[in-house]
Amino acid sequence: MKIEIDPNAGFCFGVVNAINKAEENLSKDDQLYCIGDIVHNSIEVNRLNDLGLQTIEHDEFKGIKERKVLFRAHGEPPSSYRIAKKNKIDIVDATCPVVLNLQKRIKKSFRELKKVNGQILIYGKKGHAEVNGLVGQTSGKAIVIETTKDLKSVNPDLPSELFSQTTKTLEGFNLLREELQKIMKAPFKAHDTICRKVANRVPLIKEFAQKHDVIVFVSGKKSSNGKLLFDVCKGINRNSYFISEPQDIDVSWFANAKSVGVSGATSTPGWLMNEITEKIKLENKINISMSRIKKIGVLTSGGDAPGMNAAIRAVVRTAIFNKLEIVGIKQGYEGLINGDFKKMKSHDVSNILQKGGTILRSARSEEFRTVEGRQKAYQQMLDNKIDALVVIGGDGTFSGARIFTQEHDIPVVGIPGTIDNDLYGTDYTIGYDTAINTVIDAVDKIRDTASAHNRLFFIEVMGRDAGFIALRSGIATGAEAILIPEKETHAKELQAYLEKGYKEHKSSGIVIVAEGDKSGGAYTIAKEIEKEHPEYDIRVSVLGHMQRGGSPSAFDRVTASTLGVAAVDALLDDQKSIMVGMVHGDVTHVPFNKTIKNKKKVKDTYLRINEILSI
Ligand code: F6P
Repeated sequence: MKIEIDPNAGFCFGVVNAINKAEENLSKDDQLYCIGDIVHNSIEVNRLNDLGLQTIEHDEFKGIKERKVLFRAHGEPPSSYRIAKKNKIDIVDATCPVVLNLQKRIKKSFRELKKVNGQILIYGKKGHAEVNGLVGQTSGKAIVIETTKDLKSVNPDLPSELFSQTTKTLEGFNLLREELQKIMKAPFKAHDTICRKVANRVPLIKEFAQKHDVIVFVSGKKSSNGKLLFDVCKGINRNSYFISEPQDIDVSWFANAKSVGVSGATSTPGWLMNEITEKIKLENKINISMSRIKKIGVLTSGGDAPGMNAAIRAVVRTAIFNKLEIVGIKQGYEGLINGDFKKMKSHDVSNILQKGGTILRSARSEEFRTVEGRQKAYQQMLDNKIDALVVIGGDGTFSGARIFTQEHDIPVVGIPGTIDNDLYGTDYTIGYDTAINTVIDAVDKIRDTASAHNRLFFIEVMGRDAGFIALRSGIATGAEAILIPEKETHAKELQAYLEKGYKEHKSSGIVIVAEGDKSGGAYTIAKEIEKEHPEYDIRVSVLGHMQRGGSPSAFDRVTASTLGVAAVDALLDDQKSIMVGMVHGDVTHVPFNKTIKNKKKVKDTYLRINEILSI
């Protein structure tokens, strides 16, 4: 959507001059009075009031003595100058030069006409400040004509001259002149005293209103110029809206608009139109993203992890909360390729928060690794009108998602779900905490039997090529040694270390071995140690897939719920190819590129802790 501020809108010279004078004086003195609102725009008046400008009415003005008073652009009648003189008031005269000139002309004509008992006619708004100033030049004798109805007050037998308030329309003035010419019997002269800066705005604003789908017209409610220009806009473009401040914007006005024009009266400050333009842009951005994504698909892919169900539940319910449609995609990317979709309702995710596994089931799809497979998946999304995806899984899942978003313009947000905790950009992945608790439960049990038989156990834990599970569970179980891929294992060192422990005090030993450790896994390292120490009673236990099962821990449930909400929020916020993660307890958005390319490091502090505590 394009948005343009009307280049012809904004303060006219007279208003700019008055505001400059007010600001200039307020920078020297902290108080300045002004008779009536300096400009018919309450926001600008409030801004100047905050700087010390005090708005007073004519009655109050009469009582003020020896102070500075600003006469605004509209001008003042001679009576105000007389009061000022009497009360020793220092006048800051900001009367617009166009108005001042008009006052002089009216005064002169009035003097001339007085000699022939003539009359001054003023086309203008009764009670308007400028009109009062003009009428004042005729000692209150001028006849103010607002509409042709007022013509009945005009005596056609008296010589007359017609003037106009500077901000009236040419059209209205010409009409009145014609009417008067028809009825006048005595000599009649009409003076077109309309300010061209203002009058020219009418044809210009017509063009502007025609150019845009929607017009937002900004003006104070008291501005007669504002009302006039808005009526012109509305006549040309029925999608024209009158507002006075940013809060008045209704985002539904822009639903189908390709271009929006922001215009204003001669009393509308430029900064206010800028502020309103920014607000429209912002609100419309939210609106566009809300309207663009109507249906989301959610899938779980790769190795399942406890807490995936809690994440599915959070995604489904957040989508429904935002009035979006949500479909569950079965068996990860396989289901996406094959169109294995199920429309999800809130009750479909009832009672799953506490369950291990994934109700959507999971797979490692070979076909999705191919261009053709991804093309099929894209076609399924188009056919089923799915606008965006939330994928829950690990680095393999995100690599697939990244390439998919590159090939097809589909927004995808990832939720880290893997027991391995090996994703860069998040402190925790969903399932990691539960897996560690499962491991420590198993290791504690093994410890019982190891002590009973004075045995040395090599326990292999999962983690693919990362040592996060091993390291943390090793510390939590008081393992004698922890072997992880991130740190080189020296069999000799390990031997010496175990020997020392056995000689000194230990009745059992636990060595946690990450499956990805370079030594080759628990069986291999156990064999090596056995060769050197046939006296050790060694056993090996590979914990295997039990680590992936079970009811998620409280921590995983909360993380899954938080990230599920964050994923849908991110899609609605126009995010396209990112993982939502948790860093220091806060949600983060990490581009897939970053999380895939970078390797998460194990914390050195944990390595040190283990070294100290396993002596
Ligand atoms: O990524 C999770 C994980 O459990 C790894 O720890 C392990 O290496 C791998 O999955 C096992 O994969 P699969 O279940 O396909 O045998």
